[in-house]
Amino acid sequence: MTDALIVDAVRSPIGRRHGTLSVVRGDDLSAQVVNGLLDRNGVEPGEVEDVQWGCVTQIDEQAWNIGRNVALAAGWPVSVCGTTVDRQCGSSMQTNFNAAAAIMSGQLDLVVSGGVEMMSRVPMGSNNGSLSDAVLERFEIVPQGISAEVIAERWDLSREALDEYSYRSHMRAARAIDEGRFEKEIVPIEVPREPSAGGGGAATAVRFAVDEAVRRDTTLEKMAGLAPSFVPDGKVTAGNSSQIVDGAAAVLVASESAAARLRLEPRARFVAFGIAGVDPHVMLHGNPEACAKALAKAGLGWDDIAVIEVNEAFASVVLQFLADTGLGERIEDVNPNGGGISLGHPLGATGARITATLVSEVERRDARYGIAAMGEQRRPVAAEGLGGGAAEGEDEHCEDQDGAHDIF
Ligand SMILES: CC(C)(COP(=O)(O)OP(=O)(O)OC[C@H]1O[C@@H](n2cnc3c(N)ncnc32)[C@H](O)[C@@H]1OP(=O)(O)O)[C@@H](O)C(=O)NCCC(=O)NCCS
Repeated sequence: MTDALIVDAVRSPIGRRHGTLSVVRGDDLSAQVVNGLLDRNGVEPGEVEDVQWGCVTQIDEQAWNIGRNVALAAGWPVSVCGTTVDRQCGSSMQTNFNAAAAIMSGQLDLVVSGGVEMMSRVPMGSNNGSLSDAVLERFEIVPQGISAEVIAERWDLSREALDEYSYRSHMRAARAIDEGRFEKEIVPIEVPREPSAGGGGAATAVRFAVDEAVRRDTTLEKMAGLAPSFVPDGKVTAGNSSQIVDGAAAVLVASESAAARLRLEPRARFVAFGIAGVDPHVMLHGNPEACAKALAKAGLGWDDIAVIEVNEAFASVVLQFLADTGLGERIEDVNPNGGGISLGHPLGATGARITATLVSEVERRDARYGIAAMGEQRRPVAAEGLGGGAAEGEDEHCEDQDGAHDIF
């Protein structure tokens, strides 16, 4: 088996709902991200064998196998294949898994894994379908915001604790932006601007390079004043939920032979993956079990892991993760640069987004291992009944890989 090397991991800045990125199509945004990824690594597009692209709401502009359309919109040769993966919020963590598995097993040598979600343009849930009676009779299926409430109840998490975590997420994301921690992972995006309404002047483009959903001016008092979003007497609000945003992210995954042939300098490698199915009524609580499986496969424990990314779908999900893993004391190592609550959670892109952020942070700390986890959620109203999480650990083997980081 060859290692699955992470050559590089990048993302667009995340645009707030109806914000700067909302004038761009998802395939066009993705094209800029994957071209940025290849450009900065000196890779000819024709070398890429497959684009594995996560996208949850596969309708309208995001329909028609957007994975393949990303490669075509990027101007790549027709020989570059592409497919689209829906594992709900875990979609581009699953594309990491697909890419790594294909490479480790010797079937492919160079794969782009990533995803996109333009939640302003293609609303979450707009491709909703129906569920089998067999599922509905077996489970009480609820929207994910309700699951977040159930978790808060069952794990005895207070509204104050949810808000406090979320406030910290915003402060951490603001700090990360101010300290330039995201600069290495962000591919600046050229956003087209229409000529001014009065006529005259040609269409131009603005350069968009900084995440824009972070609420720097939030306070615990303001957050405490927000009404519950999902049930009248609930604890889950707009402030302690992930934000609806636009974004794309991509990871270049190579075999050892492809990396050598193309003279690439991998930053990391995938080490192991784990997935765990849980009760779909409480769909978001599978992260600890998924991580435990990945760690067991790698022969590692939590003490080996320097940085932990747990998707901030809702604050209750992260606090439940901390409670079940016993990592509450290590809050400085968990989502140290914010997450879905502050930066936003562009569903199909988030797996690759947190991979990029994790790789950067592991490097910044000069650490060896990191892990990323995310629950797989349903859309509101209806969707399939599977909960769980894809976990990825990332580590760095400075000694045997010339400064590259290893990733699960
Ligand atoms: C929770 C949710 C329903 C809230 O939607 P919304 O009400 O449209 O959210 P908004 O961002 O417009 O925020 C609502 C209000 O709260 C305010 N607000 C939100 N976060 C705040 C914060 N941290 N501090 C202060 N005010 C805040 C907003 O300013 C807004 O105020 P306004 O109405 O005066 O403009 C939506 O964000 C959501 O569905 N999130 C989860 C997405 C999801 O399920 N993803 C999949 C993972 S499970």
